[in-house]
Amino acid sequence: MKPGTKEQAAIYRLDKTDVYQHWRELKLSNAPTDANHIRVEIQDMNAPSQAESAQILKHCCHNNMALYHCNTDNHDEPTARIKAHAFADHFGLHRVEQHRSMTPDGLVSIEVVNEDSTQSRAGFIPYTDKPISWHTDGYYNPTATRIKAMMMHCVRPAPQGGINELFDPALAYIRLRDENPDYISALSHRRTLTIPAFVEKDGVTRAQSVGPVFTWDRYTGNLHMRFTDRKRNIEWCKDDITAEAVGFLRHVLENDKHVLKYKMNAGEGIICNNVLHNRSAFEDNNQQGAGRLLMRARYLDRIEGTCD
Ligand SMILES: [Fe+2]
Repeated sequence: MKPGTKEQAAIYRLDKTDVYQHWRELKLSNAPTDANHIRVEIQDMNAPSQAESAQILKHCCHNNMALYHCNTDNHDEPTARIKAHAFADHFGLHRVEQHRSMTPDGLVSIEVVNEDSTQSRAGFIPYTDKPISWHTDGYYNPTATRIKAMMMHCVRPAPQGGINELFDPALAYIRLRDENPDYISALSHRRTLTIPAFVEKDGVTRAQSVGPVFTWDRYTGNLHMRFTDRKRNIEWCKDDITAEAVGFLRHVLENDKHVLKYKMNAGEGIICNNVLHNRSAFEDNNQQGAGRLLMRARYLDRIEGTCD
């Protein structure tokens, strides 16, 4: 089986169990139980060395994500901004999502924003100190702007909390299929998950988003997952098998030994093929310019050279 080919796409055919089993064994044998196993030391984010790049790519191939730590990019926000982009670019992430809250450099600052502020970020959960439930990024995006990869870089951590949990969507697929292949059929239905239309503060309407949880590219075999565990303003297909599948997925996300837990410190970050993630609540530093700050960029490309 050649990775990144039509042949690999056979993994997701429910009638091709031999291809699936081969891939499944490989995925599980490479799946870590400790986030430190996918953490790579980087000397210069502007120009990671060949060995550093190879480590990042290896983890992204095996687990769809890598964590990095760079000592030289700790506290200087303007420099970290430039370097974060250069780093993503190095891994083939060029097409940035045009997000309404991004700055001209294509990054979105994830920090606490006063709810009364007029900023576009005000009032949305990511820009508070509250927990964020499991999701993949851009689950409300239309197919044309599906988020295939993203990176988050920590400039300043919170004194307490703000921990991320991470889970490879390919492992979610495996757990669901092993439990009941009908769960995969249910979550691959074109009307499985609906996010209703939403009117933004500026009056612009974000269109309703209807689609499956799992899709895969027929030619490359790459899997994409669209998921949110939010409970409000969301409609799941109203049948028993979908409810069971979603319930089982929640159980996996709460219990699986391959769910990785990590608190990013200054100069650390994640680069990934849009893996499942959440965030715990945190206590912020309320001094001016000292609050928790992560920079995020989302991409319409997958990390170059990675396949499931
Ligand atoms: Fe996210």
